[in-house]
Amino acid sequence: MNFNINNRVSWVGKIDWELKWFHGYEYSVHKGSSYNAYLIRDKKTVLIDTVWQPFAKEFIANLKEIIDLDQIDYIISNHAEIDHSGALPELMREIPETPIYCSANGIKSLKGHFHEDWNFVPVKTGDRLDIGENKLVFIEAPMLHWPDSIFTYMSGDNILFSNDAFGQHYASEFMYNDLVDQAELYHEAIKYYANILNPFSPLVKKKIDGLLALEVPVDMICPAHGVIWRQDPLQIVNKYLEWSQAYQENQVTIVYDTMWNGTRRMAESIAAGLIKADDHLEVKLYNAAKTDRNDILTEVFKSKAILLGSPTVNRSILASLSAFTDAAAGLSFKNKKAAAFGTYGWSGESVAVLTNRLKEAGFQLVSDGIKAAWNPNSDALVRCYQFGQQFANQL
Ligand code: FEO
Repeated sequence: MNFNINNRVSWVGKIDWELKWFHGYEYSVHKGSSYNAYLIRDKKTVLIDTVWQPFAKEFIANLKEIIDLDQIDYIISNHAEIDHSGALPELMREIPETPIYCSANGIKSLKGHFHEDWNFVPVKTGDRLDIGENKLVFIEAPMLHWPDSIFTYMSGDNILFSNDAFGQHYASEFMYNDLVDQAELYHEAIKYYANILNPFSPLVKKKIDGLLALEVPVDMICPAHGVIWRQDPLQIVNKYLEWSQAYQENQVTIVYDTMWNGTRRMAESIAAGLIKADDHLEVKLYNAAKTDRNDILTEVFKSKAILLGSPTVNRSILASLSAFTDAAAGLSFKNKKAAAFGTYGWSGESVAVLTNRLKEAGFQLVSDGIKAAWNPNSDALVRCYQFGQQFANQL
């Protein structure tokens, strides 16, 4: 499959309808994804990125249907991660001398992955490549989301090839932002930001401020995953600006695990107290052992505060909360309040363990949390309800 984006640029990537996990098992994918590669046919012919290695042969066969590979003058590797560079070895076997334009860090990464000394051409911000009617301008975007990442801007047609930035793990045969379900699109876009880009938010903001200050026209943003932004393309840039500045909605997310439902009952009583104190507050509860971790992290990203609950087990917390707090720490959430809760039978360490983990992960603790012995009785549940009310009043 390939299709023309305009009279010079074609999409030559691969839609991966079956994908369920990305980055190993680090990122859950519910609606498939795509590896977007682009072919520009101006006076010079340019290939921007490739696809993931399992689709390399299909990618080359597809390319050969529309072009003789020898006609490719330049390859641009906006980002060396395997989902975009995976077909390079197959391609370079066919056209071994073709120059590959990428950042200096891109050369290091590509050599690290493939151990090949291809004809690399390092580029920096502001470097230009004249391809005929259009020029390509390179913009380094380090840590959006790897050190090597660059954007390529095509002046004339005003297209920004942004690689991972502004992408979504979202497979659709429609391939344009104005043709797909907007709720689905934005759900996947915010999940992608929360789980991949959030740790680099200060750099995202700086890069976008810099891009907007250039005041160059952008008629289309072509990311490396998901749909192309052609209708009001700056909408996603403005969303990234919003998301990169300690984003929060009027939401509290309660994440717990439970052995015999005591901690679950605490969670529900705390939720009732929160809602009583602020009936505009959106309160969401998730059992960490039963719910997709990336989906919960997306809800945490949208929240102004979180509550974590675990019973005490073996002087610590349940494993689902350990995994969750590790992942949350890695995503460097900012400006979010928190507290912990949990049941216990005798030693009762879980609330202190969770409180420490929340603190280490950068959350702002508003209390020492709340414990309930054994199966919480009605008095304990009233205390939880009141705790929820107090927590809401501290937000
Ligand atoms: Fe960072 Fe889509 O790879």
